[in-house]
This record gives sequence, structure tokens and C-alpha cells, in this order.
Amino acid sequence: MNDSQRLLDKVAIVTGASSGIGAAIAQAFAREGAKLGLSGREETRLTDVAKRIESDGGAAHILAHDLAADEEPARLVKEAIEAFGQLDVVVHSAGLFEPQPFLETSLESFDRQFALNVRAGFLLAQAAVPHLSEGASLVFIGSIAGHVAFRNSVAYCGTKGAVELMTKALCTELAPLGIRVNALAPGNIRTAMNEPFRAEPGYEDGVNDLTPAGRFGEPEEIAEAAVFLASDAASFVHGSSLLVDGGWTAW
Ligand SMILES: NC(=O)c1ccc[n+]([C@@H]2O[C@H](COP(=O)([O-])OP(=O)(O)OC[C@H]3O[C@@H](n4cnc5c(N)ncnc54)[C@H](OP(=O)(O)O)[C@@H]3O)[C@@H](O)[C@H]2O)c1
Repeated sequence: MNDSQRLLDKVAIVTGASSGIGAAIAQAFAREGAKLGLSGREETRLTDVAKRIESDGGAAHILAHDLAADEEPARLVKEAIEAFGQLDVVVHSAGLFEPQPFLETSLESFDRQFALNVRAGFLLAQAAVPHLSEGASLVFIGSIAGHVAFRNSVAYCGTKGAVELMTKALCTELAPLGIRVNALAPGNIRTAMNEPFRAEPGYEDGVNDLTPAGRFGEPEEIAEAAVFLASDAASFVHGSSLLVDGGWTAW
């Protein structure tokens, strides 16, 4: 636990909490005093994250499920509220990245990416909002691919572009209630999502060359930005997209 406790007494749901960015966000939130509802498909990996949170003095409830099934976002909200009695922060980090050249992208792949990256986030917000009150915060994990084109990623860019504009549109409805809605757009971050590509010779050097900071980011660097967006320090930050990308989109 941190002394600062920037999320003390808050209850947060984090999707994609079993891995990468979501796992780092969940652990950072717990260190800041939040109680966590953790979502992912794999129970073993979620349990590992929950154990790390609990051994650090925090509290976590896990739900292993396929978030892309339409009834599951609402079940996640219900279980978190049953476990902790309230809901203050929602982070949708679960995501799927299936890069393919445009003409080789199947409709199944297009639908899979939209179902998790966009539709599940929409349903999660719809289930959560009736339980949120003034000071609550929704954070959608977008991507640089929602700001600029990403090679061989028409469907994925479509999902992340949708996340950006859904964030702004939802902000206009919820800001009057004192509920903040923001996107957090990572650049290339060292997680399981890009592990297969990083294994290819030259891939990592190529990305580093295109990144002004000259390196991949770490999940913990995204988690710090998520803590800021979820905390009262961001009290006037509504409908924004916070790029944490080592300068990728600055060229
Ligand atoms: N890594 C990057 O460079 C990068 C850059 C920009 C944006 N992002 C975005 O950041 C977010 C997190 O990505 P990451 O890099 O942390 O990827 P990751 O390590 O692959 O994690 C993805 C998470 O999503 C969960 N998930 C996948 N399918 C699911 C489903 N159907 N139902 C429930 N959970 C599901 C996974 O859990 P299970 O495997 O246990 O189901 C895992 O926890 C994504 O939205 C991604 O688009 C990543």
C-alpha cells in the first residue's frame, strides 16, 4: 500500500486484469487503497493477481468469464457490488488485437475484436452507470491505433477509434452528473499482446526507431496514468484521451 492512498475507499472494476496493462492497473489501484473486481477469462491468472493484491493488504474479487458474452458485463458489475457494496471506478482494459492485411481480415475476426473492445465496454458502462455517483470515473483503454493508422489493422483501428468517440459522447451525458469518462491511449507496451511480434527478428528495433522515446513502455507506466484518471486529481478531466506512447503520435 502507498502512503498517498489516492483511491482510498473506492471500489473499482478492471477488465483484462489477468494480464499486461489490466493487471498492472489493478495492482496499482490496490496500492492506492481501492478494492478490486477483477475480470478475465483465465481463473488461475486472475487468482495470481488477486493473491498479489491481498498479500499487499488489498481486497479483490475475481470473475473468470468471457466478457464478450452479452450478459457478462452486467454480471461483473453485480458481483463487484455484492462483494464490496458500491462502485466508483470502471476500467475496460480487456482487448483483442488481431492484425491482418485488410483483404485477409475475416468478418469473424472483425466481430471478435469489436465484441470485446467496443461492445463489451458499451455494455459494461451501461450496467455500471446506474450505480455510479458524483466523483465516479470510467476509463476506457484505447490505443495509439485510435489516433493514427496502425499497419495491417483496419478492424483493430476501427475498434479503438470507436472507443475514442464513445468516450467523448458518453462524457457529454455523464459530466453533468459529476461522473468523468476518459480514454487512456497506450503506445507500444511490453505485454503478452505483442509478445509474438516481439519474437520476430527486427520487430522491436523497428518499433523503437519509430518511437521518439526509443523504447517500449511498461504496463506500470500505463497504470500510473490510469491512477491519475481514476483519482480526484483528475477532477476536471472529462472526455479526454490521454496518450501515453513515448511520443509515437508526435511525429
Ligand atoms: N500492449 C500494447 O502495446 C497495447 C497498446 C495499445 C493499447 N493496448 C490495449 O490495452 C489493453 C490491454 O492489452 P494488454 O497489452 O494488456 O494485453 P494482454 O496482456 O493480452 O491482456 C488482454 C487481457 O484481456 C483479457 N481478455 C481477452 N479476451 C477476453 C474475453 N473474451 N473476456 C474477458 N477477458 C478477455 C485477457 O484475459 P484472459 O487471457 O485471461 O482472458 C487479458 O487479461 C487492450 O485493450 C489493448 O488493445 C495495448
